[in-house]
Amino acid sequence: MALLRLPGLIDPHVHVREPGATYKEDWSTATAAALAGGFTAILAMPNTQPPVTDETTLEAALQLAREKARCDYAQYLGATAHFGPREAALAPRTAGLKLYLSRTFGPLWLVSTETWHHPFRLWPQEAPLVVHAERVTLAAALFFARLYRRPIHVAHVAYREEILLIRGAKERGWPVTCEVTPHHLFLTQEDIPRIGEGRAEVRPKLGLPQDRAALWENLEVVDVFATDHAPHAVQEKDSPQPPPGYPGLETALPLLLTAVQEGRLTLDDLVQRMHHRVRAIWRLPEQGETWVEVDPQARWEIPAHGWHTRADWTPFVGMKVQGRVKRVVLRGKAVYQDGRVLAPPGSGRSLRGV
Ligand code: NCD
Ligand code: ZN
Repeated sequence: MALLRLPGLIDPHVHVREPGATYKEDWSTATAAALAGGFTAILAMPNTQPPVTDETTLEAALQLAREKARCDYAQYLGATAHFGPREAALAPRTAGLKLYLSRTFGPLWLVSTETWHHPFRLWPQEAPLVVHAERVTLAAALFFARLYRRPIHVAHVAYREEILLIRGAKERGWPVTCEVTPHHLFLTQEDIPRIGEGRAEVRPKLGLPQDRAALWENLEVVDVFATDHAPHAVQEKDSPQPPPGYPGLETALPLLLTAVQEGRLTLDDLVQRMHHRVRAIWRLPEQGETWVEVDPQARWEIPAHGWHTRADWTPFVGMKVQGRVKRVVLRGKAVYQDGRVLAPPGSGRSLRGV
């Protein structure tokens, strides 16, 4: 069996849930899931409880990461309506700034464009600014990026109208980059009956088959793949008010490797979008002596259970995939092998040196 060696994958969009909702996930389980999925670094989203919005909450999240992370990490700051110079000065310690411009899980929604000016103007040009902006809100976010002449990264592009907006902006040379999730590349509204209504809830919502097709057709416009790993407990997903989000760290690579096998993208397309371009956009240091060994021949069916994420379910259950992570080496040490996570909590390092 010839193994394939890939660089350590980096996921720029992960919801770790700690502090606040460790029954959903915590730094130890999220980073175990990351290693099992071939990711040697993750960037953690700020919509925790409390959300990470200032120096105190940032330091608290980083302290938990120091104690519990099994892979390397950085933590986003989330902008509130009170964003100012004090928050902007935190940039070097963060993965970037996240702006919730469309409604989603957590309290960080910037409802009015009046609250967008300070973050767009004050966040350093060279520091990543990531927007959650759906449909027409994306056009507004692109307008702000233009207004303040600064780069932005668009999280989880899901619809045809969105990828076309980004294509247009890129064709005019605007400094915009974007990510697409495996669930928007592999699922549509037609999968909702199979997944179940509550479990299928996600933001952005699953699109139509023509939305999914538009993402594949415009793959050259897609800079990176990001899981938007958003674990919630199955009891919550199956309740009358299901929170949106899917776990995704452990299924992303096998799904995308299967697409490589099927000739829908090349292995280089994948490695560019899961390693090189992530490092370039987020200006991340190289992780020396770090790689992922994959068995590209292994055929398997996505199981319902047995995952490392505490949210032990997946919307991809039953899908047939080819390609499996065998072993992961992080900074010279075997951290995952044949189903077992070997890295202890606290062995992960900050990608920002903090
Ligand atoms: C995310 C969550 O649960 O934190 N949910 C989701 O459906 N993606 C929030 C988000 O990224 O929008
Ligand atoms: Zn998210």
